[in-house]
Amino acid sequence: PRTAPILVASNRGPVSYTLGEDGSLTARRGGGGLVSGLSAIGPDAGAVWVCAALGEGDREAARRAGASHLNPGDTGGQQVRMLDIAPDVFAAAYNGVANSVLWFVHHLLYQTPVEPVFDAEFAEQWAAYESYNAAFADALAQEAVDDAVVLVQDYHLALVPAMLRERRPDLRIGHFSHTPWAPPDYYRLLPDDVAAAVLRGILGGDRAAFLTERWATAFADCCAAVLGAEIVRAGDGEGGGGVATAVRFEGRETRLGVHGLGADADFLRERSRRPDVDERLSALRAQIGPGRKSIVRVDRTELSKNIVRGLLAYRRLLETRPEWRERVVHVAFAYPSRQDLAVYRDYTERVRRIADEINDEYGTDGWTPVALHVKDDFARSLAAYRLADVALVNPIRDGMNLVAKEVPVVSERGCALVLSREAGAYAELGEDALVVNPYDVEGTARALHEALRMSDGERADRTKRLAAAATALPPQAWFLAQLRAL
Ligand code: G6P
Repeated sequence: PRTAPILVASNRGPVSYTLGEDGSLTARRGGGGLVSGLSAIGPDAGAVWVCAALGEGDREAARRAGASHLNPGDTGGQQVRMLDIAPDVFAAAYNGVANSVLWFVHHLLYQTPVEPVFDAEFAEQWAAYESYNAAFADALAQEAVDDAVVLVQDYHLALVPAMLRERRPDLRIGHFSHTPWAPPDYYRLLPDDVAAAVLRGILGGDRAAFLTERWATAFADCCAAVLGAEIVRAGDGEGGGGVATAVRFEGRETRLGVHGLGADADFLRERSRRPDVDERLSALRAQIGPGRKSIVRVDRTELSKNIVRGLLAYRRLLETRPEWRERVVHVAFAYPSRQDLAVYRDYTERVRRIADEINDEYGTDGWTPVALHVKDDFARSLAAYRLADVALVNPIRDGMNLVAKEVPVVSERGCALVLSREAGAYAELGEDALVVNPYDVEGTARALHEALRMSDGERADRTKRLAAAATALPPQAWFLAQLRAL
């Protein structure tokens, strides 16, 4: 039935289910920046959110809902249609193509000479990715009223805009990338047909939007390099050469947009003062010990987040600046992510091993230098934001990184931010952060030292400015800006 005036499509939806042994379903909010941003849509916008069933619990919920929407009680009132895509097709598209290939390309994560290898298995996975994208295009085409607006999210669904335009030329279609975009020379590691198909897929929409100018420019450069598309620039015609504003290809024009998703100050301030957060705050304080400083990080255990080099930098700090021994604790939250993939499981193991090594090497009876927590707990993350003296955000590459934006908002006494220049957030927060090259362990150790030494006054001032920059475009405004632009 065509009822929806606004549609959002993403692989991960706002809710995921676990199936109990008695057949009961328990709903939980999904993690990651995409869900945080889109959750601001709210039930009143009249939007329908189309997402994939990720596990057995989701599948069961999707089956029970049939062709209608999930129980609104589970989704905060949001209309959600969850697609029960065949498990092998889903696994090949999500694990094989989206998270092993497209994610790796955009975050520059391939380690030559072993990777990448595009063999017969990949060709099969790519076919699955096409049919998984087609399943989304079909569902969206069914749900959308005439002239509806559709916001397609992320690298999982790169082919959807073009597929949907074919089915429903009346729709206005936007694509939003929550990741970085690879520069052309690196992007061309992809097989030629795949590299072209992904770009053509996104160019099938009216708009292609990104978290920062840098990723939008890289996308335009890839369109020019791979497809020979024409880049339209601001100031063209007056001898311009300004920023890329659109891509022209095969007689159509796709406008480029930049919307730097910000933190939701109202939500965070309210949520972080609730009793469950207070409880965890006391527990963390006790774990850190009186009079000690804390260096906090909160990430999915994700290769792009660079957790291992963060730990190495902390080890180097303890080695070169012995005055910090017994006086600081590195509180590292590394929450499980994409555990179906061996590289993620291996990475998780490395993180644990290095944390153990540091604790063995430097720990004393009364002091454990690294407090590593691997069980996902949002309330505990907020508690850590409240007490952090230093936040370490050092990704190799990151579309935005919302942790860097959330910490200054929630922090109680001000928090020094050590920030990678390769995170999208750098464009907005770079001035008041201590900026590091994420590969430079030595430089990161120095920045941690500077951050720990920063005076209370300076830390508070910087935090205030960081919080203002971090909340410039809160999720609701971010979402509306895209709708309006379409
Ligand atoms: C990043 C991606 C999102 C994704 C999230 C969590 O933020 O841009 O699309 O939802 O990571 O990853 P997951 O694979 O668990 O959905």
